[in-house]
Amino acid sequence: MTTRPFPSDFLWGAAAAAYQIEGAVDADGRTASIWDTFTRVPGAILDGHTADVACEHYDRMPHDVALMKQLNLGSYRFSVAWPRVRPDGGPVNRAGLDFYSRLTDELLAAGITPWLTLYHWDLPQALEDRGGWTDRDTAHRFLEYAMSVHDVLGDRVDSWTTHNEPWCSAFMGYTSGGHAPGRREGVAGVVAAHHLLLGHGLFVEEFRRRGGTPENGKAVGITLNPTVVEPFDPAREDDVEAARRLDGFHNRVFLDPLLLGKYADDLSLDTEGMLFEGRRWEDFVQDGDLALISAPLDFLGVNYYHPEAPAALPRDVEPDDLLGSRIQHSPRPRESPYPGGGVVFPRTGRPTTDRDWEIDPDALTRLLVRLEQDYGAPPIYITENGAMADDVVVDGAVHDLGRQQFIEQHLHAVLDAMDRGVDVRGYFVWSLMDNFEWSYGFAHRFGIVHVDYDTQVRTPKDSALWFAEVAAANGLPLA
Ligand code: FCB
Repeated sequence: MTTRPFPSDFLWGAAAAAYQIEGAVDADGRTASIWDTFTRVPGAILDGHTADVACEHYDRMPHDVALMKQLNLGSYRFSVAWPRVRPDGGPVNRAGLDFYSRLTDELLAAGITPWLTLYHWDLPQALEDRGGWTDRDTAHRFLEYAMSVHDVLGDRVDSWTTHNEPWCSAFMGYTSGGHAPGRREGVAGVVAAHHLLLGHGLFVEEFRRRGGTPENGKAVGITLNPTVVEPFDPAREDDVEAARRLDGFHNRVFLDPLLLGKYADDLSLDTEGMLFEGRRWEDFVQDGDLALISAPLDFLGVNYYHPEAPAALPRDVEPDDLLGSRIQHSPRPRESPYPGGGVVFPRTGRPTTDRDWEIDPDALTRLLVRLEQDYGAPPIYITENGAMADDVVVDGAVHDLGRQQFIEQHLHAVLDAMDRGVDVRGYFVWSLMDNFEWSYGFAHRFGIVHVDYDTQVRTPKDSALWFAEVAAANGLPLA
């Protein structure tokens, strides 16, 4: 077979996150996270689903690792649940940590590189009760938790990621309220974002102090969900302005402090007069914070699904012509995740996945080139990319050609970026298996492996079998 090859050391993986697959929410001393609480809020999750059981990965882990091996995965991206390791944000719970120790050993024995994320959104509820990410102290609690994970896994895990998509933690959690903890408090998302970044910086500092360097085979980074933001109508000044503003609140609010050591001036102008508990930027961004946050990274994780094309309000547009209108959402009201709101997302005419997300692989190439050109980004790993589909099992198989094509097109887009000089070193498909998709519960399937939630039977979909071949061949098939 002729292939379009990847570099010989390219990392092929699949990703998942603790809360979305583990279940066992009361096992071995674990206590509630903000998501356990949020799933109990009426209307917060589609069909009232909870992740109490999810994929039972906590109990089925060895079987799931065997499946990864069967699929030729070189790496598995997982997250550690803070409320298992330090229930209620309190003392270390050895029994909870043991699960990740066993998982690590199982992966290493299978020849699969563990790719660990410290925070994929499951803050202990007790810490949210003390202010959550709008409280600066949470960054210090994060450091404490992260170091207790490092104490136990630092010898065996080489790749450490502080946060997954802090944009979602901050702006979906504290501005929109569509995610836990469900707060709809405007510019609170900006304050939360800064404290998430501070937690990241504190960990990087300590990680280095403990000898965590590439020379010692250890790497630290963060995963963002940066995207391409382009005006819906480039001829309209208000759309161009909306795109600038969104680029600020989606991309630059994280990329600038991490990679340039500053916050852009337009962010503070855009939030003028919007104070969270009376705090101005200079109140929550303290001396020394930006130096910590901008310490050099060994890699940048990029999660990419779709671009954004905002149109400024007021706008004459039919509700059916807005993206997202073709799927059912959880009924609890939410605000725009962008402080100040004022935008909608009309269809641009691109095809969409069953999630009603527009498909644009070329935007991924443009995004990667921008990260290189504007930021001189460190080596990049695509830590999430994939598609939701309404999959069904027929005669023991799932024919998800749409997902396979989505992944294939995006892998070509990655190679296109690499051809243009971007240093991309790996690709993790989202997700290893169907799982609890946040406010959409179990209705949205993203896995390359199908999960029957009644029987917990796992069925590799056609996309998984295809992905396994691509990983083995280390290249994309060419016709
Ligand atoms: C990302 C999340 C991941 C999953 C995918 C579909 O925003 O990091 O947990 O929900 O979207």
